[in-house]
Formats: sequence, C-alpha cells, structure tokens
Amino acid sequence: TFVVTDNCIRCKYTDCVEVCPVDCFHEGPNFLVIDPEECIDCTLCEPECPAKAIFSEDDLPEEFRDFVALNAELAQQWPVITERKDPLPDAQEWDGVSNKLPHLVR
Ligand code: SF4
Ligand code: F3S
Repeated sequence: TFVVTDNCIRCKYTDCVEVCPVDCFHEGPNFLVIDPEECIDCTLCEPECPAKAIFSEDDLPEEFRDFVALNAELAQQWPVITERKDPLPDAQEWDGVSNKLPHLVR
C-alpha cells in the first residue's frame, strides 16, 4: 500500500490522482489520502507528487507512521478524486514546511 504523508497538507497538488488505475485517492479540504483497501501497489503515483509526499508503506519514514491509519480512516470519509485540479493557493509557500498535521482540515 502507498501512503500520502505530511507534505501534501496545504499543498494538494493533485498530480497523483490522474495516474491511479484504481481511483483510490480521496479528497479532503487540504489533503488527499489513499484507500489502502483499493491500492494495488502499482507505484505510479509516487513520482508524480511534486511535494514528494507519497511513500510505499514499506519505505515509510518512521516520522510518518501515523499516516498509515490516517489514510485508512479518512479514505472512508472523503469522496474519490480522479481529475487533477489547481493546487491550493499557498501551495508553494507550504511545500517543504515540516509537521503540518496540526493544519489538517477534516
Ligand atoms: Fe493508485 Fe498505484 Fe498509487 Fe496505489 S500505488 S495509490 S494503485 S497509483
Ligand atoms: Fe498531495 Fe502530492 Fe497528490 S501534494 S495531492 S500527494 S500530488
């Protein structure tokens, strides 16, 4: 399974969604998540993210451990997104800022 992590928050570039063959991205107000029940480990999304926010669960840095459960939880609550849209207006300013989890809007 692939996991969306901290640096997506407040950026949400959405380049990732167009390449997913099984439509497993779900969209919230300022973050995207992957449904672990649907992801087939195709690896296509990982290089698409300009914010480098997507990791294989197998290569997940320890600091992002909590994002595994968060992706699973929010994928149940948020709608599927399959078409790319504009990033959030302040995406460039927030890209690379660490520990954005307190900014997550559910
Ligand atoms: Fe979709 Fe493939 Fe990324 Fe899984 S690894 S979320 S199946 S694009
Ligand atoms: Fe987020 Fe990267 Fe996709 S910033 S919306 S995971 S392209």
